[in-house]
Amino acid sequence: MRNFYQLKILGIKKETEDSTSVAFDVPSELYETFNYKPGQYLTLKFSINGEEVRRSYSLCSSPVLEEPLRIGVKRVKDGLVSNHINDNLKAGDTVDVMPPDGRFFADVKKDSYKTYYLFSAGSGITPILSILKTVLLTEARSYVHMIYGNRSQDSIMFNTELNALQEHYSDRFILEHTLSRPKSNWSDLWKTSKEQSYRKGRVDTDAVKWFVNEYPPYAQNAQYYICGPGTMIENTKKALKSIDVPEDRIFIESFGGSASVDTTKAYENAKLTAHLNGETIQIAIPQGKTVLRTLIDAGKKPPYSCEGGVCSTCMCKLTSGKIHMNNNLALSDKEVEQGYILSCQSIPLTESIEIEYE
Ligand SMILES: Cc1cc2nc3c(=O)[nH]c(=O)nc-3n(C[C@H](O)[C@H](O)[C@H](O)COP(=O)(O)OP(=O)(O)OC[C@H]3O[C@@H](n4cnc5c(N)ncnc54)[C@H](O)[C@@H]3O)c2cc1C
Ligand code: FES
Repeated sequence: MRNFYQLKILGIKKETEDSTSVAFDVPSELYETFNYKPGQYLTLKFSINGEEVRRSYSLCSSPVLEEPLRIGVKRVKDGLVSNHINDNLKAGDTVDVMPPDGRFFADVKKDSYKTYYLFSAGSGITPILSILKTVLLTEARSYVHMIYGNRSQDSIMFNTELNALQEHYSDRFILEHTLSRPKSNWSDLWKTSKEQSYRKGRVDTDAVKWFVNEYPPYAQNAQYYICGPGTMIENTKKALKSIDVPEDRIFIESFGGSASVDTTKAYENAKLTAHLNGETIQIAIPQGKTVLRTLIDAGKKPPYSCEGGVCSTCMCKLTSGKIHMNNNLALSDKEVEQGYILSCQSIPLTESIEIEYE
């Protein structure tokens, strides 16, 4: 069972006008529990207006650097938690944090010889920055080619850190910024000793094709990591496929935010049998509720985080019956074929269903 732990905030740093990074103090007895791979995320739990809310935030720190666990949070318009974190949290506060999780990570090894292509936009930089730092520090023979999209100079998160990395690893790290609404003063972007180029526009299909053509892989073993808004992910994937990049070399993290409206009707009051934390639970699924919500409302403690079909924390196996998933940005086609489901997105289609959490 995945538990929450109270972690103290070591420090808060304003990264841009609308984003903040939060560093956590992990006590030595929890070092092992909070071990992570570059690209993984934390789940934070808050009680806001009397309601328990959970959100996922990717770690932007690197596990191979002696730095505290850090997340970067960008405000979402009218967003409950992102604004709470930006407005109210301060050093010394404690936050309920679930240990690192997630399947978007780079398998970084000292002897690897690879070219990493990193595509990010906006707050999608967070897991990408963790992968970037970890690769540069650990894999002395690998190259990193990165393109990062933002609105303007002022909205580039971690700009100082990125500039420092570019200067230090100029022989192995290429960084291109693209700005959709750059300020007229472009000169403030040239801060490193090495001349940089900046593009106007977005990380779209043309930009991605141009980028890979301009900076071909040095090592044959190339891997492609993408994190950003939905359209940026779709366009990047489309561009990579059009130049014959194999699907198994493309790794994607979505932050969610745009679930489609789904009108599929559930089987009314279907019987749910759930095997969870060593207990067998039998319960009817009320109309309009997902499998996950049914269990939570019955006082059970299934694992979950985003509740948006994005993070996979709520994954379980369907062992009998049929379900429908409203949104699935986390499971591969193969996993779905094997019977895995996202319980936060599942409604029953048959009179009874049976599921098993690992
Ligand atoms: C695996 C994972 C990792 C994540 N890592 C990060 C991270 O490193 N940094 C970060 O800032 N965020 C990250 N997110 C997004 C984060 O979890 C929240 O979804 C985000 O902060 C919005 O929460 P909120 O409570 O402020 O908004 P809500 O109150 O939940 O939503 C308010 C409105 O904003 C829309 N919305 C929700 N999320 C988004 C979004 N991401 N983009 C655009 N619109 C949205 C909703 O549809 C709704 O209309 C991550 C999400 C996942 C699943
Ligand atoms: S809780 Fe994130 S996919 Fe279900």
